[in-house]
Amino acid sequence: MEPLNEMLDAMEEEGLRPVICSAYRTIEYQTELFENYIDKRLAEGWTYEDAFYKARTRIAIPGASEHHTGLALDIVSKTHQQLDDAQADTKEAIWLAEHCAEYGFILRYPEGKEDITGIEYESWHFRYVGEEAATYIMENEITLEEYLALAE
Ligand code: DAL
Ligand code: ZN
Repeated sequence: MEPLNEMLDAMEEEGLRPVICSAYRTIEYQTELFENYIDKRLAEGWTYEDAFYKARTRIAIPGASEHHTGLALDIVSKTHQQLDDAQADTKEAIWLAEHCAEYGFILRYPEGKEDITGIEYESWHFRYVGEEAATYIMENEITLEEYLALAE
C-alpha cells in the first residue's frame, strides 16, 4: 500500500488522474469475469473451446490470477477508463510505464511478450515485485517469467 500510495501521489502531483479499476479479486469474482468473457464469445458464435482459449489470453484462469495475491492492480486514466489498446496512449499509462519501477511495480504483460506471458498486452496491469527486481525488469525490458528464469 505504501509504495502504491507514493506512486499515486507522485502522479497526482504531476496533474495526472489515475484510477484503480481492479485490485484484489476473489476466485469467485475471477470466475465471474472468466465465464462472462466466454459467454460473450459463445453469443458471437464461437465454439466453447475457442472461447476458452481466447479467454485464457485475457483473463487468468480463476485461482491463477495475480489479482488473488493482492500484489497486482489495474490502473487506468480517469479520462479513459476502458481496458483497450487506446489506454496505452493515455498520459497516465505513459507515466506509469516510465516510472512504475521506482515504486517497485512492473508492467506485467508487455507488448511483444505475449508468447512468454501467455497474456495479451495490458498497459494497465501492474504488479508489485519490489524496487530492485522492478528496476531490473523494466530497464532490461523483460518479463517476470524471464527474470525468474535468470535465477534458475
Ligand atoms: N487480466 C489478468 C491476466 C488477470 O486476469 O489476472
Ligand atoms: Zn489486471
